[in-house]
Amino acid sequence: MLCAGAACALRVDPASAGDEGLEAAAVRWGRFFGSAVRVNDLKTEPNLREAVIRECAQLVPEFEMNWNEIEPAYGQLSFGKIDDLTAFAIANGKNLRGHTLLWHLSVPEWAVEMLRENQDWNLIARYFGSVIPRYGDVIGMWEVVNEPIDPGQRVDGLRENIFLEVFGPDYIARALAQARRFAPKAQLVINEYGLEYDLPDERDRRYFLLKLLERLKRAGAPLDGLGVQAHLDLRKGHISQSAVARFLQEVAAMGLSITVTELDVKEADYVATAEERDRQVADEVRRYLDVVLSERAVTGVTTWGLSDLHSWLEITKDDYARFAGAWTDGAGPGFNRGLPLDSSMRAKPMYFAIRDALWYVKPRPQKRRKKVAVP
Ligand code: G3I
Repeated sequence: MLCAGAACALRVDPASAGDEGLEAAAVRWGRFFGSAVRVNDLKTEPNLREAVIRECAQLVPEFEMNWNEIEPAYGQLSFGKIDDLTAFAIANGKNLRGHTLLWHLSVPEWAVEMLRENQDWNLIARYFGSVIPRYGDVIGMWEVVNEPIDPGQRVDGLRENIFLEVFGPDYIARALAQARRFAPKAQLVINEYGLEYDLPDERDRRYFLLKLLERLKRAGAPLDGLGVQAHLDLRKGHISQSAVARFLQEVAAMGLSITVTELDVKEADYVATAEERDRQVADEVRRYLDVVLSERAVTGVTTWGLSDLHSWLEITKDDYARFAGAWTDGAGPGFNRGLPLDSSMRAKPMYFAIRDALWYVKPRPQKRRKKVAVP
């Protein structure tokens, strides 16, 4: 494993924290480490492929399994990319997480129109029936509904998406039941973002999400767990460790598993040295994982990509404007440095922050589960 700059200085004695990599460190406490991957990048970049095989037990298609990618036109289902990813996963002893079935940002336009016109759940059932059984042997966890909460829209905090518009708030329970019919053994989860900071909208999102989870459990919906995306953002200050800990304890008390599904970090300061930028990112990731990994219900950690080279987190025009004139030497800020490996696939301090947290943070003893009364 090559280090990147300061990363070497940060390394804990390899003998104590294990030197095999992230997958091995996660196994110590019975967890997994994984990463989102873009199928084309995996095919065309040997260094990325090698890093994914070395570090990850679980792979997540970053966008290729979205409804609008699988079925861009009604009835024209294309599974090539996910079939290739499945073959790669099986050949390398990896498992896949199904990301994601219902998400307001990935509903094909034709499906929005058809749902609005026909109000027919069979469109959803047919789509689930075409995707879930196809990958039943390699996908152990399905994100059935992605980002159902949007505080400020409704008294129940649910996002006003096409599914809610057509089928009402019960669409979530209905989607879980539908997925269960096609995946009798898989873990079925709901995935959400914006749960880490002591900010009004994140406090509200944690509150409304807990209420949703309680309603679903009370109704006996086949919900096994929660995915917390964990897109950390240094512009928001530090995460609230107490708020995260309290929230995760409430979720675990319902008997739900928890998975960190999309961990990455948006930087705030692009003019500091790379060493300082990497340290700020690594420190925040460690602050977050120290709390998260002490929760026994946490099954694993997935980053939203392995290398800064492939991150959805870009340095935007606004970012450049905030530091106008800062880069006189033409070098510029490079990539957002919010993933474990740099753009040359070298481990950064964030890599070692994740590895050491996975290795050292022992899950807290199991608390008694809060009974959710089922009528
Ligand atoms: O790779 C193709 C390229 O070949 C093509 O020329 C180009 C234009 O069509 O598209 C490229 O693919 C795009 C891909 O990002 C890679 O850049 C897809 O169209 C685009 O839809 C995709 O966006 C993804 C986005 O979700 C929407 O699906 C991002 O990669 C992905 O990181 C982002 O991930 C979301 C999670 O699903 C849910 N949580 C939030 C997270 C970040 O927004």
